[in-house]
Amino acid sequence: VKSRRVTAPLRFEDGALEVLDQRRLPANVEWITCRRPEEVAEAIRTLAVRGAPAIGLAAAYGLALAFDGGERCGEESRARFEDAARVLASSRPTAVNLFWAIERGREALAAAEAAGEEPAEALRASADALMRDQWEADRRMAELGAARFEPGDRALTHCNAGALATGGYGTAGGVLRAAWEADRLTHVWVDETRPLLQGARLTAWELDAAGIPFQVVADSSAGSLMTRGLVDRVVVGADRIAANGDVANKIGTYPLAVLARRHGVPFYVAAPLSTIDVGTPDGAAIPIEEREPSEVTTALGRPTAPAGAGAANPAFDVTPAELVSAIFTEAGVLEPPLPDAIRAVLAE
Ligand code: MRU
Repeated sequence: VKSRRVTAPLRFEDGALEVLDQRRLPANVEWITCRRPEEVAEAIRTLAVRGAPAIGLAAAYGLALAFDGGERCGEESRARFEDAARVLASSRPTAVNLFWAIERGREALAAAEAAGEEPAEALRASADALMRDQWEADRRMAELGAARFEPGDRALTHCNAGALATGGYGTAGGVLRAAWEADRLTHVWVDETRPLLQGARLTAWELDAAGIPFQVVADSSAGSLMTRGLVDRVVVGADRIAANGDVANKIGTYPLAVLARRHGVPFYVAAPLSTIDVGTPDGAAIPIEEREPSEVTTALGRPTAPAGAGAANPAFDVTPAELVSAIFTEAGVLEPPLPDAIRAVLAE
């Protein structure tokens, strides 16, 4: 094994959810303790925990925190669950894994009620199971994705889609790890990912720990790198994939897909089935989070624009399905035409 162990962003201990504070990385490795669903929602909203699958897992544990041990299921616990679900669901709008995980929690509560079990324990066990499933899904995506790489490949990635973003092995980050282990990857170009630098701060931190060669580049470098023949694949994660295969991911992903098409570079997306939302017909229907303008007019807490400068801060963009070469899921590789591939994989 060439790469070293992954760092998990979450752990549930002594009746509390501990969250690795990703806002403080790479300079500080600090954990936040959440004892109430509201605290988990705040950790999600402020990006202490981020990345679509990890947000879903945090929410799953957040639901368990709505209950004390020794309680029975009933009308009151259902109402308490719905209050917690509302708070957690309002933390961020784009990553569908959040809403998917809350739905899994609702099912777990119903099953616990039917079996006469305690809600706290049932929801905790359900969150643990989602975490284990995420690990398995990530490993499978990694294996399938790495098989598309050729020895000597240099890949470009955007944002952070490693273990920190999933609670498992990583989606796009897992593919990179597996390709490296299989001697099919020699270098990773890491987009710094303004405004919050998830690439420079988090992906670089993970690749460094794994011993995978990389260089951080400004987000605007991709065209130049591709013109010079220095990028063999682009691989990114996703926050929501619509039924037609349009992919929402961190702002700046769409221009990479356009450039990749222009230069004949494969553009891959790695995402678990929980990121596919058939209730969203196409990219135009995906809610795009607008974050505080101050995130754009500052960098690491320091101003980068004159005081009072206006700014817009859409956190995600949508890559049309036609620009996606393949989607790696735990159930197989989805190839164009993506609407058909998505329909088929979900029917299985
Ligand atoms: O705002 P963030 O940091 O939560 O955005 C995360 C991303 O865009 C990731 O690429 C995406 O969630 C895929 S995570 C495996």
